[in-house]
Amino acid sequence: MGSFILLSWITLVLVLENVVGAHANITRHYKFDIKLQNVTRLCHTKSIVTVNGQFPGPRIVAREGERVLIRVVNHVQNNISIHWHGIRQLLSAWADGPAYVTQCPIQTGQSYIYNFTITGQRGTLFWHAHISWLRSTLYGPIIILPKRNLSYPFEKPHKEVPMIFGEWWNVDTEAVIKQATQTGGGPNVSDAYTINGLPGPSYNCSIKDTFKLKVKPGKTYLLRLINAALNDELFFSIANHNLTIVEADAVYVKHFDTDTILIAPGQTMNVLLKTKPHYPNATFFMAARPYVTGLGTFDNSTTLGILEYESPLTSSVGSIKILKLFKPTLPTLNDTSFAAIFASKFRSLATAQFPANVPQTVDKHFFLAVSLGTIQCPKNQICQGPSNSSKFAASMNNVSFVLPTTALLQAHFFGKSKGVYTTDFPTSSLPFNYTGIPPNNTVVSNGTKVVVLPFNTSVEVIMQDTSILGAESHPLHLHGFNFFVVGQGFGNFDPNKDPANFNLVDPVERNTIGVPSGGWVAIRFLADNPGVWFMHCHLEVHTSWGLRMAWIVLDGKLPNQKLPPPPSDLPKC
Ligand SMILES: *[C@@H]1O[C@H](CO)[C@@H](O)[C@H](O)[C@H]1NC(C)=O
Ligand SMILES: *[C@@H]1O[C@H](CO)[C@@H](O)[C@H](O)[C@H]1NC(C)=O
Ligand SMILES: *[C@@H]1O[C@H](CO)[C@@H](O)[C@H](O)[C@H]1NC(C)=O
Ligand SMILES: *[C@@H]1O[C@H](CO)[C@@H](O)[C@H](O)[C@H]1NC(C)=O
Ligand SMILES: *[C@@H]1O[C@H](CO)[C@@H](O)[C@H](O)[C@H]1NC(C)=O
Ligand SMILES: *[C@@H]1O[C@H](CO)[C@@H](O)[C@H](O)[C@H]1NC(C)=O
Ligand SMILES: *[C@@H]1O[C@H](CO)[C@@H](O)[C@H](O)[C@H]1NC(C)=O
Ligand SMILES: *[C@@H]1O[C@H](CO)[C@@H](O)[C@H](O)[C@H]1NC(C)=O
Ligand SMILES: *[C@@H]1O[C@H](CO)[C@@H](O)[C@H](O)[C@H]1NC(C)=O
Ligand SMILES: *[C@@H]1O[C@H](CO)[C@@H](O)[C@H](O)[C@H]1NC(C)=O
Ligand SMILES: *[C@@H]1O[C@H](CO)[C@@H](O)[C@H](O)[C@H]1NC(C)=O
Ligand SMILES: *[C@@H]1O[C@H](CO)[C@@H](O)[C@H](O)[C@H]1NC(C)=O
Repeated sequence: MGSFILLSWITLVLVLENVVGAHANITRHYKFDIKLQNVTRLCHTKSIVTVNGQFPGPRIVAREGERVLIRVVNHVQNNISIHWHGIRQLLSAWADGPAYVTQCPIQTGQSYIYNFTITGQRGTLFWHAHISWLRSTLYGPIIILPKRNLSYPFEKPHKEVPMIFGEWWNVDTEAVIKQATQTGGGPNVSDAYTINGLPGPSYNCSIKDTFKLKVKPGKTYLLRLINAALNDELFFSIANHNLTIVEADAVYVKHFDTDTILIAPGQTMNVLLKTKPHYPNATFFMAARPYVTGLGTFDNSTTLGILEYESPLTSSVGSIKILKLFKPTLPTLNDTSFAAIFASKFRSLATAQFPANVPQTVDKHFFLAVSLGTIQCPKNQICQGPSNSSKFAASMNNVSFVLPTTALLQAHFFGKSKGVYTTDFPTSSLPFNYTGIPPNNTVVSNGTKVVVLPFNTSVEVIMQDTSILGAESHPLHLHGFNFFVVGQGFGNFDPNKDPANFNLVDPVERNTIGVPSGGWVAIRFLADNPGVWFMHCHLEVHTSWGLRMAWIVLDGKLPNQKLPPPPSDLPKC
């Protein structure tokens, strides 16, 4: 009798362990072989750097709570690093990816395993190269499904479709940024925008390279939108259809409907598309083109995709489709008023299940003037900046950030910061009329300056656009954290008046936010993740010009508040 009970008890424990084990601590394994692939677009064949020969790259799919291991093997001549954009990387800063910030690059013939757990996030993010301009072809979706047995806080979609926007160059983008860096001029612009790597029929010989979304009537589709373009914010719309926004940067938001969205490089958005109840006997274009505020030249073209209703009338072989074709109308290229209204519609769910943990008090305030500017042209050279004697530069608080030649995180972790970085990043700007008549002196200083934050510091950052070399919208991206967007406005931030209007109840929680052209944005975050965290404009041209800085968040006192030592395969410089 006694032994029978004991046996059943053991059996029961084993069964329970199997059940729990099947659902907990799953690890997803991926292998990324970085290799060249010939790809033809716009009648130009180009050898591009890809993951596994795919363009765009493969999808990473995992559930919230799962571990992801990606072994990246570099088979090309370029140095490589990959960033898992928007992943919080709690206690796994070594896996974040920006070259010379959290790691040295993976050199030719080397490999590195990125190892992280997805904690408290669900929705769409993306991965991309984080070195030089290689992300122009190295990018792909990250799809985070809710935990098993948890449903979406919206209607279950019939299908889910990742749609990743990109920019195509007929020429080598590494040559483009190299030339721009040497001359100090604005880099050449792209030749096309793409949807899932396809430019569509508005470009030369691209009709066959058109993204087609085939749908059934009366269904709901979840579009996972990602802007992986290098240098352009994009408007997007589908003719005669509204979109319901349900998530941004892998955080659910209060639903709202819109016929047009604006998505900045670095931002992601899940939207629901409800198809018409009956077969409409029409085909609908979807279109994306840039939102531009700066003074420089830009790619003003439009990428088109097709929303096609699958119909028994048109699917039979040999039938000719004669369908009406509708095209969406997009805002004008410089519609800053649309941008401001659209941005203000995003709100956190702020429910018991999905709370908005907005820091209600602030330990440290920062004011960052976000600017374009210049550096001197070297003697004996004629430059192509705003004048022949200057090169373009960009800065925060007048510091144009210089990347070190070793990784900041290693230098910090092993206490070898001397000669690598200094901790005197200015916490505020010299006062001037940021959005008024610009000062005559546009020359910026440079340095590898960081801010050091004790663990669990509650931080508020005001990011103020300036009119130096022209007001411009800057999508600022913070690594390692989500932040709450508590306020935004035009003109100069007023520390006496504006904080009274901050939303501390249900502000949107994101990892990338547009600093409004000629305006400011206020964000708050809790520095609860030890490591070195890059913050930069996600317009790659501005990052290259120095619009970047880093936060060092120190370890906390408890064991689970300390950054573990680096993995043994961490690349060396
Ligand atoms: C899953 O991981 C958590 C945290 O890493 C750990 O506490 C737990 O014991 C693990 N569960 C299983 C079944 O391994
Ligand atoms: C790409 O095309 C070039 C020229 O045709 C060829 O030499 C090269 O081997 C191709 N590369 C790949 C990876 O297929
Ligand atoms: C990934 O990280 C976890 C936690 O630090 C560690 O236990 C595991 O061994 C790592 N896996 C690999 C393949 O490095
Ligand atoms: C999860 O869902 C499956 C299938 O619907 C069910 O069999 C299982 O009991 C559920 N598990 C839990 C922990 O709710
Ligand atoms: C889209 O939404 C707007 C405003 O809610 C509405 O006026 C319009 O009719 C809708 N369009 C379609 C195609 O459903
Ligand atoms: C795009 O720019 C070119 C060159 O500046 C100009 O000729 C063309 O009209 C512009 N196209 C659109 C759609 O604005
Ligand atoms: C669909 O529209 C085309 C062109 O407007 C027309 O010729 C055709 O008869 C229509 N088909 C149906 C099934 O309504
Ligand atoms: C937007 O562009 C149009 C056409 O180029 C111009 O007339 C208008 O002044 C611009 N608006 C703003 C706010 O810059
Ligand atoms: C800043 O400049 C703008 C535009 O010239 C002007 O309207 C505003 O009054 C100025 N603000 C201050 C505080 O001087
Ligand atoms: C810029 O220089 C001009 C001419 O030297 C001068 O009149 C003007 O006041 C200066 N502007 C500023 C903002 O310093
Ligand atoms: C930083 O500024 C110094 C002094 O102006 C200059 O000599 C140096 O070349 C600059 N470094 C970079 C990387 O721009
Ligand atoms: C690759 O990275 C290493 C380490 O930082 C550096 O020494 C080397 O010059 C880089 N190679 C290229 C081609 O950029």
